[in-house]
Amino acid sequence: MSEKLYLYPVWLRLWHGINAILFLALIATGISMQYSSPDAPLIRFDLAVKWHNIAGVILSLNYLIFVLGNLTTGNGKYYKIVLKGYVQKVLKQMDYYLRGTFKGEHTPFPVTKKRKFNPLQKLTYVGALYMLMPVIILTGLALLFPEFIIDKVFNFSGIYLTALLHGVVGFLLSLFLVVHVYFSTMGSTPTSNFKGMMSGWHEPH
Ligand code: HEM
Repeated sequence: MSEKLYLYPVWLRLWHGINAILFLALIATGISMQYSSPDAPLIRFDLAVKWHNIAGVILSLNYLIFVLGNLTTGNGKYYKIVLKGYVQKVLKQMDYYLRGTFKGEHTPFPVTKKRKFNPLQKLTYVGALYMLMPVIILTGLALLFPEFIIDKVFNFSGIYLTALLHGVVGFLLSLFLVVHVYFSTMGSTPTSNFKGMMSGWHEPH
């Protein structure tokens, strides 16, 4: 086994831990508001709204830590995608996940101090953190202050469209979370990546 790498500084672990807890709270309260019957709510409706709003505001502030941390420390470099040859790299990683890993092959993009994420992982992190998160935060804030939402867009209610986008992106981010946690079990042992995120030290595969 090669030497452990310190890849998750304290600020990143704090952001990630707070983000994960708030995410679970937002999913539970969000699902309760969206799907449960008013007569038999999973979580009492007024409480679900209140806690969804509180968790959403804290998550938005916490997101600033992620963005500022990535801008001001070296961590941001791990999120940069060089387009040239990227599709081939993603396909190579997919092939490993679909075939290679079940044959005991070695991961094609091992973690190093220079490369923390494999190409597919980087793509999902950039998609979730830099594309979906801004949309869910902005639509969430808009729904918190609906007076700022445009009244009608092509004769559709602006609030309805904002809520629809918020719900769709919430669903996609929930999907990301399930996939993210599943792939996190594919470290050198099923629990090593989780331990790494707690201690800061990644155990190479
Ligand atoms: C129960 C919830 C969660 C668990 C157990 C979990 C687990 C982990 C683990 C084990 C890692 C380290 C492996 C790696 O480098 O990829 C990690 C990293 C990461 N997670 Fe999560 N995660 C959770 C929720 C989330 C959520 C909700 C998001 C974002 C919406 C997220 C985004 C990230 C990102 C961006 C990294 C890489 C951070 C960096 O090193 O720069 N995670 N997570």
